[in-house]
Amino acid sequence: MTLLVKGGTVIGPTGTQRADVLVQGEKIVALLDPAFSGTITPDEIIDAAGKYVIPGGIDAHTHMELPFGGTAASDTFDTGTRAAAYGGTTTIIDFAVQKTGEVVQDGLAAWHAKAEGNCHVDYAFHMILGGVDDESLKAMDQLVGEGITSFKLFMAYPGVFYSDDGQILRAMQTARENGAMIMMHAENGIAIDVLVQQALARGETGPIHHGITRPAALETEATSRAIALAEVARDCPLYIVHLSASGALESVAQARDAGRNVFAETCPQYLYLTLEDQLGAPGFEGAKWVCSTPLRSKHESHAKDLWKGLRSNDLAIVSTDHCPFCMKDQKELGLGDFSKIPNGIGGVEHRVDLIYQGVVDGQLSLERWVETIATTPARMFGLYPQKGIIAPGSDADLVVYDPNGRTRISVDTHHMNMDYSAYEGVEIQGRVGTVLSRGEVIVADGNYHGRKGRGRYLRRGLSSYLV
Ligand code: URP
Ligand code: ZN
Ligand code: ZN
Repeated sequence: MTLLVKGGTVIGPTGTQRADVLVQGEKIVALLDPAFSGTITPDEIIDAAGKYVIPGGIDAHTHMELPFGGTAASDTFDTGTRAAAYGGTTTIIDFAVQKTGEVVQDGLAAWHAKAEGNCHVDYAFHMILGGVDDESLKAMDQLVGEGITSFKLFMAYPGVFYSDDGQILRAMQTARENGAMIMMHAENGIAIDVLVQQALARGETGPIHHGITRPAALETEATSRAIALAEVARDCPLYIVHLSASGALESVAQARDAGRNVFAETCPQYLYLTLEDQLGAPGFEGAKWVCSTPLRSKHESHAKDLWKGLRSNDLAIVSTDHCPFCMKDQKELGLGDFSKIPNGIGGVEHRVDLIYQGVVDGQLSLERWVETIATTPARMFGLYPQKGIIAPGSDADLVVYDPNGRTRISVDTHHMNMDYSAYEGVEIQGRVGTVLSRGEVIVADGNYHGRKGRGRYLRRGLSSYLV
């Protein structure tokens, strides 16, 4: 079976070109000069005239069915990966969880059981370490051999996922030996918990206090501390997740300027949404946007600095941190006490569009769009060149993107299992057209042609950014 994506402009991390993409079975076999491809008679042609052809998006940070705050994230691997496909994301890297006190391998087995047979697009796992001890450190070595080459630790959430500095250092030392990446939730959770208790005692119970009690300074402090700990662990590779504060970005930039193996991602919510306009919405409405790290103040320069960081590569990747909870019965758990609102925002369906809007707005080049949503996630997390690039031999994960189309984001039209949209009413000046996953058309003109169970588990290698 051969398929030709014809007449489009192919975008890669290093440039754009008019080229036709020849697919055979699951793989890209050639990029052809349009003048030459007329001599080819494929089984199927996809007309991409006037459109961009980009590698399928890779969302390197999702939490399908994550147990959190007495409930669980509302997207299953079925509903979440289907929504991802609609939005042009053809690979997710989800976080398997070792709960505190649990054997790491048991946590991983539970995640495989949730995902297997349910995914619409390809998937891989990072591992959350909920407890660092001799056993879990040994498990890290084993998991690297099984294609799980990145481990998330938390400086936040004392009593839940939290690791102290000694535990973090030990995990970093192990990662330095086995080549894995340490991913860090960098917020000073001990200090935050004091601020939370003080706010509640003053009767400050509404959603905005979630943001106020998690100040940017405590993200910056934790980010600097993580970078220092990684230095002590002989420059252990470190990746800061969901970075939202200018000061934290400055710490990352300094480390990178010094040649350190320090990387970071941000998420669309920190580029577009704010503490005042969303978390501060009237009544309990702000609960929709309770996530950690929190949305930042529009009166400071965070969002502007994050876009700049994306241009300069101090921020390497845009992931979603997709962790949806419905308002009904889930976010509502925190009525009268913001600290009980489950933390998370859903957005796996909209990342490709939202970052494309950054291109329209003059924030990013087309090449940088593709790099931050597809190519760099593949390289960072050991999936390149199978994923993240349009090149002979790579999986035929392709998105035909229409720059003349329009997308209006709404709960009425999205496919995530959420009873609201964090981006309700936002208009994107572009539209996902056709989506191919390993050569199969799974979305065409807003219609779904994929199926549950077709997504495959991906064993990952080590990061391409490390020697
Ligand atoms: O609020 C968030 N980010 N929820 C998901 C868990 C995490 O810390 O990434
Ligand atoms: Zn986190
Ligand atoms: Zn997360």
